[in-house]
Amino acid sequence: MKSYSIALIPGDGIGRDVTAAAWTVLETAAKQSGFSLTATKFPWSCKFYKDTGSMMPEDGIGILRGFDAILLGAVGWPAEVPDSVSLHGLLLPIRKAFVQYANIRPHRLLPGLTGPLRAESFDILCIRENTEGEYSGAGGRVHQGTQDEVAVETSIFTRAGVERILRFGLEQARARRRKLASVTKSNAQKYSMVFWDDITRKLAAEYADVEVTSYHVDALAARMIMAPDSLDVVVASNLFGDILTDIGAAIQGGLGYAASANINPDRSAPSMFEPVHGSAPDIAHLGIANPIATIWSGAMMLEHLGETAAAGRIMKALEATTARGIGTIAGKDKTDAITAAVVAALS
Ligand code: NAD
Ligand code: IPM
Ligand code: MN
Repeated sequence: MKSYSIALIPGDGIGRDVTAAAWTVLETAAKQSGFSLTATKFPWSCKFYKDTGSMMPEDGIGILRGFDAILLGAVGWPAEVPDSVSLHGLLLPIRKAFVQYANIRPHRLLPGLTGPLRAESFDILCIRENTEGEYSGAGGRVHQGTQDEVAVETSIFTRAGVERILRFGLEQARARRRKLASVTKSNAQKYSMVFWDDITRKLAAEYADVEVTSYHVDALAARMIMAPDSLDVVVASNLFGDILTDIGAAIQGGLGYAASANINPDRSAPSMFEPVHGSAPDIAHLGIANPIATIWSGAMMLEHLGETAAAGRIMKALEATTARGIGTIAGKDKTDAITAAVVAALS
């Protein structure tokens, strides 16, 4: 029997509930499809930081490297550990170290869901650059705490980095509706963003079968709300993609529905799957976190592992569940009830 080793990092807050829910669904789907998944659970989190002084062990990246994939809940407990410490100690280093340069985030309405928009037929695939740009971590502060203080944070865009994410997006567009929106702010940022536009133009010529349009990020943000059905694949830098995908989550009904895959397309290291949302301290411990985003991310993990049939079955079960009105209204159904309904729909 085929078997996959998965590193499970529940993290903080509702990350623990939603990963437990997704794991139940994944195990059921695996059993039904004739393969097995083994989880190795890592307690790396803000609690781990409080206990040990770091978010993960020094050789954490080395430990994770041997797994087939990583399933992560959420990282962050700002009341106890500053976000700038917790995220730079766990989530962001994994994305970078494993060259998970393509962060894929699908935005569409599941059946039975009413989003905030009149348009309902949208199906957007946001692809966010995930290793450089505004998240490069190059910068510093001097004269800290004085009136002369200076803070600098430099975005770094490399030709290799921009080319590979645009190429990845173009390939995705080819497999979909052959439209690509390349997102920048080149009217204001005249070096990095003009550079990105230049590379877009160069690659567009290579992919003549894909309709490529460059948008400014502010206009694209408005378009996601006013005309989301005009968009297919959207490719954006790390920060722009972060913001646009919370808009994507909002128009699909909320953060409880937005899935995400941090993909290493070369397969030189494991990819990581996680919901778009965070640890939601405001609802942690209430048992009402929506597990759908994480279950959907789990389906993306199976797809990446080559278990396409099982991934498709999970998506069908999710759709059958929401079509019955389960998990479609914030706070109405408990995490466990939604999970049980998805498991039942699998059988
Ligand atoms: P958040 O996504 O945790 O929460 C935003 C709002 O959405 C909250 O009102 C929350 O209750 C709601 N929400 C989120 N997920 C939900 C779900 N599954 N079901 C129902 N409601 C849900 O964002 P935040 O409040 O800005 O951040 C909280 C912490 O999480 C911070 O430490 C932040 O840095 C961290 N964070 C981590 C990740 C990650 O690990 N990938 C992502 C985003 C935020
Ligand atoms: C996300 C999150 C992270 C990001 C934070 C927690 C660093 O918002 O995955 O969307 O900005 O990438
Ligand atoms: Mn985000």
